[in-house]
Amino acid sequence: MTPQFNGRALRSVPALAGVIALAVTGCARTSAGPADTAAADTGKVTVACGATEEWCAAMTAGFTSATGVEAEFVRLSSGEALTRIQAGRANAEFDVWHGGPADGYAAAADQGLLENYTSPNATAIPDRYKDKAGSWTGVYVGVLGFCNNTEVLGEKQVTAPDSWQGLLNPALKKNVGIAHPSTSGTAYTALWTQVLLNGGAEDGALAYMKKLHPNVLQYSKSGAAPAQQVARGEIGVGIVFSHDCVATREQGFPNLTVTFPAEGSGYEVGGVALVKGAHNPVSAKKYIDWALTAAAQEIGPTVKSYQAPTNPDAKKSDKTVDLTKVKLVEYDSVAAGTVKSALTRRFDTEVAQAPKE
Ligand code: F6P
Repeated sequence: MTPQFNGRALRSVPALAGVIALAVTGCARTSAGPADTAAADTGKVTVACGATEEWCAAMTAGFTSATGVEAEFVRLSSGEALTRIQAGRANAEFDVWHGGPADGYAAAADQGLLENYTSPNATAIPDRYKDKAGSWTGVYVGVLGFCNNTEVLGEKQVTAPDSWQGLLNPALKKNVGIAHPSTSGTAYTALWTQVLLNGGAEDGALAYMKKLHPNVLQYSKSGAAPAQQVARGEIGVGIVFSHDCVATREQGFPNLTVTFPAEGSGYEVGGVALVKGAHNPVSAKKYIDWALTAAAQEIGPTVKSYQAPTNPDAKKSDKTVDLTKVKLVEYDSVAAGTVKSALTRRFDTEVAQAPKE
């Protein structure tokens, strides 16, 4: 059994002091060859990281501090990570994918892009937050919500919407923000939530998105971007993971509030996985083992990332949404992941590219 890494205890070991994680915006790999075996592991791990830049930096630094293994990351929205991992099929750019909704991981697993790895530390993670075969394991849970700018809405004399139907209010024309589901895991979670609220019908989900379309100012690339637009007063409401609204409010925007849709909200299980053909499989497995520990999952709130940890031993921030208090849909990441490419293509042609009157 691999030992649990205790990040805090090991950080005080002098031999590890001064080891730093490198945050990079892009990285090239030497080409794959016969030396690409576990024995060739360079003792450095490259992470496709799907949460905030700050979270990614804190996680890779925390891992290095706990293990002495160097780590670098590239921040990518869910669809971008999937595309980059696909592109590296013959010569993997990344060793690990960390953060971002499990739908993307399920889609990657379907395409044979992930290597099953059941970490010994995965036993601590409840079954509903991990893939049985070990293609991905959950590290956090986030709930979709509406991020409201009370000032903007006040000027329009609109109360903060608390239902999906309320978002269709014509008074919100060009005042709603959501990302594009082909790049953003957040937006895909919202789209799949509509499928579930429409009894599993993709047509019903797209019909709702078409009705919402006139109210959407623009479809952003990253899921959290609408929270920033709301903060700047460019729009009244953003459909985002609620923790991204809480984090934005903490950046000095007290007039932001979070509401949840009465019909039911979708949620994400943020994942971690081993990329097939990883050049550094030994270090990658160490990274996954560490990411599942309570110590690793307690790092989020230190950088204003308030997702709920999946490890029951990790302390929760009091700013983390209470999952028992929000009406949630029965979200199935594997079902959502299986149709992700086809459904996002439909969204693009049938909704995003449709003219607005
Ligand atoms: O900003 C953090 C976060 O909301 C994560 O909880 C989530 O997994 C990720 O962003 C989704 O990002 P995107 O929608 O850009 O794929």
